[in-house]
Amino acid sequence: MLPAFAAIRRNPLDYLHAIWRRYGDIAQFPIPRPPSYLLTDPVAVRRVLVDQARHYTKDTLQYRALALVTGQGLLASKDAREQRRILQPAFHPERLAPLVVHVDYAGMQLAAQWHRLESASVVDIESAMAKIALETVGHALFGQDLSHDAERLVSATLDGLSVVIARARVPIAPPSWVPTPRNRQLRHANAELDGAVDRLLHSRTSPAVTRQTTDVLDLLMQAKDDSGSNLTATQIRDEIVTMIVAGHETVASAMTWCLALLAEHPEIQQRVQMEADAVVTDQRLSITDLSRLPLARAVIDESLRLYPPAWLITRKAQIEDELAQARIPAGSLVIMSPYLVHRHPEYWTRPEQFNPDRFLDGSVDRSAYLPFGAGPRLCIGRDFAYAEAVALLARLTSQFSFAFPEGAGMPRFDPGVTMRPIDGLQLRIAPRG
Ligand code: HEM
Repeated sequence: MLPAFAAIRRNPLDYLHAIWRRYGDIAQFPIPRPPSYLLTDPVAVRRVLVDQARHYTKDTLQYRALALVTGQGLLASKDAREQRRILQPAFHPERLAPLVVHVDYAGMQLAAQWHRLESASVVDIESAMAKIALETVGHALFGQDLSHDAERLVSATLDGLSVVIARARVPIAPPSWVPTPRNRQLRHANAELDGAVDRLLHSRTSPAVTRQTTDVLDLLMQAKDDSGSNLTATQIRDEIVTMIVAGHETVASAMTWCLALLAEHPEIQQRVQMEADAVVTDQRLSITDLSRLPLARAVIDESLRLYPPAWLITRKAQIEDELAQARIPAGSLVIMSPYLVHRHPEYWTRPEQFNPDRFLDGSVDRSAYLPFGAGPRLCIGRDFAYAEAVALLARLTSQFSFAFPEGAGMPRFDPGVTMRPIDGLQLRIAPRG
């Protein structure tokens, strides 16, 4: 049992990969309690997340640890029906049009900043993507420019999440009131996030702001729960922090891997650039332009397949069930990894190969593709994330070429709350003519 915990702490994904290779599509861990299974059979994964979703809850170590930062916001809550009802209007398809215009504005500003650098400079892609993703969430969901807070917020999020990861990797951790260095780090991160939430709420109660649309902040402030009461300050705080955490780390990770893969595959990068050249001008992109960027979308799909930011999904079985021909008792922990499912050799041809065309030629079996989860807890921000990523990729590739600096190559990854490159990602950017 102890070697299992040590291996999980070293690199949880390598450990899961080894277990899958050795024991197949359903494997029980050598851990006594709770009975814990790694599930990699896409049919059984669908059963857990979609068909029998009501019998599988988020009452797991992963989500308990995450709740230290996000509280009982939508991502970590066990029963999300009411929260989804309240928040869904902010993710309505008609909200994507202003989102694209704003993301493209942010993309143009980043491009302008990069143009001011010396030619062939090496830039920190990961930080740039984190900043732009945070700004986008702030603007689209809260009608606020979070960019002046960006560095503090990004680092508070990362600090908080690093404590979450440390917690999720060990079976027993000191309670959060014990003043260990990690708990102090968590408290500091939460204080930063709370401060940002306060500023957001304050800006909304001040009369100077006039807006035509209803955003997440309005929905939360106007919401009534099933008993007709307003949400409490803590509930509002938890939903806002959830959106900040869930909506920026993931997109930043997706964009980072996407640009790394394009640097590794210059021939595909060139095709993406040609496609972008036909669509991107010095006018802002609009939502209708996105349908003319199928290759950019396929590149994003394929990078989400190889490097799914949310690489781990866990559920607790409420009842006894049969999964992949194995009986699993009530109370079991079920661990599913999109990273592994996306490499299942019975569903993917040459799974390790970066081949965006598989998403264009109709050969993909979608049942084995779950970068955004599936079923009633499917990512609420999926279309938001696609619109953001496609617009940003088109804008950036239309203006720059991306390559690894001398001697560098595809970075190794660190599977934390999302999948990030171990030492970030530096790429050499060259302005295009
Ligand atoms: C590439 C970007 C993204 C990826 C890969 C991603 C991935 C996921 C996954 C896998 C889940 C399901 C987790 C589970 O079932 O246990 C999820 C849920 C969620 N995501 Fe995303 N996400 C992304 C972007 C976003 C964005 C932009 C937002 C908000 C603006 C967002 C907000 C949420 C929320 C609130 C949930 C919880 C939904 C629920 O449980 O009902 N995500 N995401």
